[in-house]
Amino acid sequence: MYADLSRPPLRERALARALGRDGWRVEVVQRCPSTNAVVAERARQGDPPGLVVVAEHQTAGRGRLDRSWESPPRAGLTFSLLLRPGGEPAGWPWLPLHAAVGVAEALRELAEVDAVLKWPNDVLVDGRKTAGLLAEVVAPDAVVVGIGLNVTTRREELPHEGATSLALAGAALLDRDTLLRGLLRRVHAATAAADADAYRALCSTIGRQVRVSLPDGSARQGTATAVDADGRLVVDGAAYGAGDVVHVR
Ligand code: BTN
Repeated sequence: MYADLSRPPLRERALARALGRDGWRVEVVQRCPSTNAVVAERARQGDPPGLVVVAEHQTAGRGRLDRSWESPPRAGLTFSLLLRPGGEPAGWPWLPLHAAVGVAEALRELAEVDAVLKWPNDVLVDGRKTAGLLAEVVAPDAVVVGIGLNVTTRREELPHEGATSLALAGAALLDRDTLLRGLLRRVHAATAAADADAYRALCSTIGRQVRVSLPDGSARQGTATAVDADGRLVVDGAAYGAGDVVHVR
């Protein structure tokens, strides 16, 4: 039995069967520190692409820029995919951006929320973050894409006030099985299409006043005018490949 009736467990067998038809091998674990770490280890052991590990409770979820991803048990979706993208690694920085397009599209279609992106790959609803992605190159030919989505998370459970959940945003769908299936379908389609203009169309950062905090500790403020061919954010003529962006207004 599970204690919180508003947070039912994932139906692993039904999920594995349905997603298996699309070539995914889905494994649900009750608890692990980080699904990205689990999938990275499996990648290094030689697992083929298509592995998806979903955690009902992730205890040490990792975020971009050494941040963490926190979510109570079964309040959201925390999962990682193993990709072996082929092609030139120079194109890989686009992978999480394309995957974020798939996440936003799935949320728009299934949950009927107005999901948009904040560069590089935060998924915002009503200006607040509801999903985040962390892509890691874990072997010369393997990339792990980890996705965290807040589904029924209550306000007091969120890590900061810039975050939200589908429930708080009034989403039309909160069923995690259906969401996971839709997310994987859309993420697969978006990474296969690799359409930079689809990303730009959803990226709410373009045209905004932004503050970019750079990995060296410095910060720049200006107008974000574009996302260039390498997936970098262009602010007042200078292109940034990594950094934390705040929409100033
Ligand atoms: C971010 O917004 O900074 C990225 C958050 C990514 C969180 C997900 S949850 C599943 C996967 N496993 C992890 O340890 N991190 C990602």
